[in-house]
Amino acid sequence: MANITSILKEDRRFEPPRAFAERAHVGDLAAYHAAYRESLEAPDEFWGRIANAFRWTKPWTEVLDWSAAPFARWFVGGETNITDNCLDRHLATARRDKIAILWEGEPGDVRVFTYAELHREVCRFANALTRLGITKGDTIVLYMPMVPELAIAMLAAARIGATHSVIFGGFSATAVRDRVNDCGAKIIVTADGGYRRGQVVPLKAAVDEALLAGCPTVERVVVLSRTKTETAWVTGRDVHWADAVAGVSTDCAPVAVDSEHPLFVLYTSGTTGKPKGVVHTTGGYMVGTAYTSKLVFDLRDDDVYWCMADIGWVTGHSYVVYGPLANGATTFMYEGAPNFPEPDRFWKMIAKHRVSIFYTAPTAIRAFMRWGDAWPSQHDLSSLRLLGTVGEPINPEAWIWYRQKIGGERCPIVDTWWQTETGAIMISPLPGATPTKPGSATLPLPGIVPEVVDKDGHAVPDGSGGFLVIRRPWPSMLRTIHGDPERYQKQYWSQIAGAYFTGDGARCDADGYFWIMGRIDDVINVAGHRLGTMEIESALVAHPAVAEAAVVGRPDELKGQGIVAFVTLCAGRSVSQSNGAAQKMADELKSHVAKEIGAIARPDEIRFTDALPKTRSGKIMRRLLGDIAANRGTTGDTTTLEDLSVLAKLREQDEE
Ligand code: WTA
Repeated sequence: MANITSILKEDRRFEPPRAFAERAHVGDLAAYHAAYRESLEAPDEFWGRIANAFRWTKPWTEVLDWSAAPFARWFVGGETNITDNCLDRHLATARRDKIAILWEGEPGDVRVFTYAELHREVCRFANALTRLGITKGDTIVLYMPMVPELAIAMLAAARIGATHSVIFGGFSATAVRDRVNDCGAKIIVTADGGYRRGQVVPLKAAVDEALLAGCPTVERVVVLSRTKTETAWVTGRDVHWADAVAGVSTDCAPVAVDSEHPLFVLYTSGTTGKPKGVVHTTGGYMVGTAYTSKLVFDLRDDDVYWCMADIGWVTGHSYVVYGPLANGATTFMYEGAPNFPEPDRFWKMIAKHRVSIFYTAPTAIRAFMRWGDAWPSQHDLSSLRLLGTVGEPINPEAWIWYRQKIGGERCPIVDTWWQTETGAIMISPLPGATPTKPGSATLPLPGIVPEVVDKDGHAVPDGSGGFLVIRRPWPSMLRTIHGDPERYQKQYWSQIAGAYFTGDGARCDADGYFWIMGRIDDVINVAGHRLGTMEIESALVAHPAVAEAAVVGRPDELKGQGIVAFVTLCAGRSVSQSNGAAQKMADELKSHVAKEIGAIARPDEIRFTDALPKTRSGKIMRRLLGDIAANRGTTGDTTTLEDLSVLAKLREQDEE
């Protein structure tokens, strides 16, 4: 949550450390401004030059075709393969034997893949997929723990022109079924389980449950053995990863695809009950993630770079896999929890693997603060040279702690603003160039044109809050919502004419620095994970006892936002607060939501009410509920309330 102190203390500035700036790709603010200016004046030349650094089997003829806006085509007519650029391109250089993926499992097992080895494994699994009947244009779902095979499977799909859709391993069987059916996957790649906080997360069992519920497009399930857990087996459908790759060749030529060929579909929460499949295509996404990785993380050949996001989220796609590999970097991956076996696991691994760049989320930083300074202070963190954050606004206190206790006051911090839809970082400091202010994502990257506007699309004065929009298309932008181009157009390009609507509120200060305030739509951000309030409401009303539900976020010190659900039960199912029945029902509903969506969506609190406050037209007054959930006095106009007594009753419960 952006809080008032962040706004009041914006005079605190940290200049890029001189030693850092001297070696950086962009070493001062003047160089940034020059690049930014060029990107505005000649955007085609600007993006075209960056794209030229990649291998294209057929050159593009036009940088951007925006004639069918908001449906963009980037690097029009070009053909390439992203894995050729992430892998093969490095094999003729000294990077051939450089570590591409350095991985540590939660139990402490370590695996290392050089670029040559990763190339071989990707080719092998690509051939296995082909043998299983996957060809260009098919979609495969990956539902896996954070193991190297997840990255290998993504790259293998891309190598043969198949589209991947990764589903975060924390989602439930129901969520898997819905996503698989929406994208029409032919194959699911999963594992028996993954390790999390010493426990086994049973992934294959969830896939079995999803398939039992009905996923008619799925023909085969590939199962990696990670935890050696017994799982049910459907002969003819299920195949062990080891058997799938047995005997296949380790040579597989990359299949050239059109620049606009879909690389992946990634589901994210929106303002309706149904998650949307954000579609990213090949050429623009490759250019966007590679360019931003290099600039924002200032990647150098001797870096050990660690983005701690799970690959199930967009951050893992862009900044664990594609961005770093396109730059020939060493990307570190960790399977498990930050506090297993002890709260110093991360610091131990940073010291052990000499990690030099560390990218995490504000919620994690706040958890580290809570666990205490003693944990990081026991370890040698001197290998670190750069820190990053993403996913939610960072409160200045956490920013300062991160700088002092993890960065030793020596590492610049990049607070990176972007979204699943943007594909790549949009607003962020360049660590060798941009002075930082704790709590601000600072300035747009070259080529990106954000603005804070009012509801009519007019720029608001400096310092005033408004809607954050992006004025011009950019290469890694989403192309559509899978199967629903109308929703794409309506949701992102119709709210403010001619601009991309981010759904975030922001303000811009006199230096042109952006301060992101958080979502202004019905999306909440819990521990850096996006959840749609409607999605949780749909899950709740699917329970037989629930008549109606309204879900709102409330400020949470650790997670940024917590989830509060106001629930009206069906006639005859009402519970009394006094006899423990309410508690029991609340627990049941919380578990129900976790089962329907996943543990991340489990409400923190359920409040039962006889009715929900509504306007005369029947709209639930979420703002009021949000005030109640946060214990704030009711603000704003309530005269349209259908029944003011509903509100009074909810407040009374508060005071009991
Ligand atoms: C929020 C994650 C403040 C924002 C990459 C956005 C942030 C949503 C920041 C996207 C940041 C992301 N400061 N807020 N640095 N980064 N957000 O799609 O509300 O999971 O709209 O993508 O996270 O979340 P998503």
